[in-house]
Amino acid sequence: MSEEHGSLVKTPKQLIIVSVIALVVPVSIALLGAQLVSGGKHIDAAESKKSVEQRIRPVGEMVKLEGAAPAPAAGAVVPVAAKAKSGQEVYDSACVACHGAGVAGAPKTGDKAAWAARIAQGASVLYDHAIKGFKGMPPKGGSTLSDDEIKAGVDFQVAKSK
Ligand code: HEC
Repeated sequence: MSEEHGSLVKTPKQLIIVSVIALVVPVSIALLGAQLVSGGKHIDAAESKKSVEQRIRPVGEMVKLEGAAPAPAAGAVVPVAAKAKSGQEVYDSACVACHGAGVAGAPKTGDKAAWAARIAQGASVLYDHAIKGFKGMPPKGGSTLSDDEIKAGVDFQVAKSK
């Protein structure tokens, strides 16, 4: 019995043929697979870059509204930045902790009697006290919100407490 019995590769020539097949077959399967995945479409570099950019684009886009909005009349209340918090949002995030339940002597939101004398001081005093702090009221309620956001929070509380 020969040593090579059972082996198909008997000559160096056959070895080369087998090696070539072993290399070509997987590569063509891979190429075929790639063709199937890409739907047989030929994708060139520029096109694929464009489509990738489209797919990874952020959902929101900044849009300049310059010139679109009419100039505000002097003294009109205009939202300063589009993402400034509304009075309700300010109140819910920075004020309700104390004013919701009347913690530490804070006038409770909606308690008309507790607010009447304070409201009578005028909005500018209330703004000032809310921004700079007043007795048990910490400056800005301890938040880092902007002055305008605090004012919106005061307006919201006052409107609920009249
Ligand atoms: C840590 C508790 C606390 C937080 C948070 C807080 N306040 Fe106050 N606030 C107080 C207390 C206490 C008083 C009453 C001070 C006094 O007159 O003795 C008060 C009073 C006020 C007054 C009345 C001031 C006056 O002149 O009578 C306003 C207006 C006010 N707060 C607005 C706000 C706003 C707006 C927020 C949220 C941005 C806020 N507060 C968050 C505790 C708090």
